[in-house]
Amino acid sequence: MATFAADPSVPRTPADKITAALVDPGFGRYFVDHMARAVWTPEAGWHDHALVATGPIPMHPGLAALQYGQEIFEGLKAFRHADGSVWLFRPEMNAARFARSAERMQMPPLPISDFLDSVTRLVELNLDWVPSAPDQSLYLRPFMFGSETLIGVRASNEYTYVCLGMPVMPFYPDPLKLWVSPHYARSMVGGTGDAKCGGNYGASMIAENEAHAQGCGQVLWLDSATRSWVEESGTMNFLVVTADGELVTPALNGQILAGITRDSLLTIAAAHGLRAVERPLGFAELCAGIESGVITEALACGTAAVVSPVIGIKTPDLELVVGDGTPGTKTRELRAHLTGIQFGTEPDLHGWLHRVG
Ligand code: PLP
Ligand code: COI
Repeated sequence: MATFAADPSVPRTPADKITAALVDPGFGRYFVDHMARAVWTPEAGWHDHALVATGPIPMHPGLAALQYGQEIFEGLKAFRHADGSVWLFRPEMNAARFARSAERMQMPPLPISDFLDSVTRLVELNLDWVPSAPDQSLYLRPFMFGSETLIGVRASNEYTYVCLGMPVMPFYPDPLKLWVSPHYARSMVGGTGDAKCGGNYGASMIAENEAHAQGCGQVLWLDSATRSWVEESGTMNFLVVTADGELVTPALNGQILAGITRDSLLTIAAAHGLRAVERPLGFAELCAGIESGVITEALACGTAAVVSPVIGIKTPDLELVVGDGTPGTKTRELRAHLTGIQFGTEPDLHGWLHRVG
């Protein structure tokens, strides 16, 4: 197994500067000292695994990823427990999804062991950067891009893998209202909706800005073909709680990202008296359910977002308030349970945590 060896000359941030940064880390405002890096070529496969100083990467402007968008990424977190220990949450799920995204984008999958080694060593070397304040964590951003200089259109013949680390707060601090755009779609049958590729996000900015102009924090995406099925939210999967005790989320259909937080919430649902149900969720059913009270709560979840209560849905024609317009009880319970596991105050019954330091 290749190991990411640390460059001993990487400058270290003094402890007082780290302490100052952790007062208000934002999301991507500060980066840890090292970044992981590896390169793939057809002749050598994956090679040059190293942990180097976080900083610019020299590149030719004709870079394949800049021209044709061959880029994929992941997002996962390390958490500090009260006893000072540091743990990664379900990193093997991110490693597997990274490999699936690579396949969809015709990029060479990074071996699972390389992915796990990169994130583990990156955190090990930067333990002082892992916050201990409530709700804060160390976010890891592994990504890979076509790094050949390439103007003729084809799959790149060289790839670079990088993993950045940064202390973060949850991405959406407040409960969300979601905007249902009448114009735009995120994915289509046969498209890249279930891959975590940068292009999906670039294409979604127009709807996200529309949402903000409408006073909403994010978009609720419907299927592109019929605009009648709920898919997911901007950087999150979408779930509802029903009056008869179900936690319903749209089934994975190739157009929705298979979220790790989604999977975790479905797994712990039973502990909260909820039956986890994955099935197509009609937009008409969602609206009628919110109006009638059959749907009592809505929530969106993701690694960066954690669990965000959804308190309203807005379209050009209607504005719906979910429940009484405040975060629902089950939503709060699920969030407390999930973050409790992550921060070590709830038992990790499923072996989701991996100790790093
Ligand atoms: N859906 C999209 C489009 C996302 O960007 C994310 C964030 O990663 C998610 C869902 C949630 O996935 P996860 O829980 O694995 O972070
Ligand atoms: C994540 O939750 O890790 C994401 O990728 C969302 C994001 C900040 C794009």
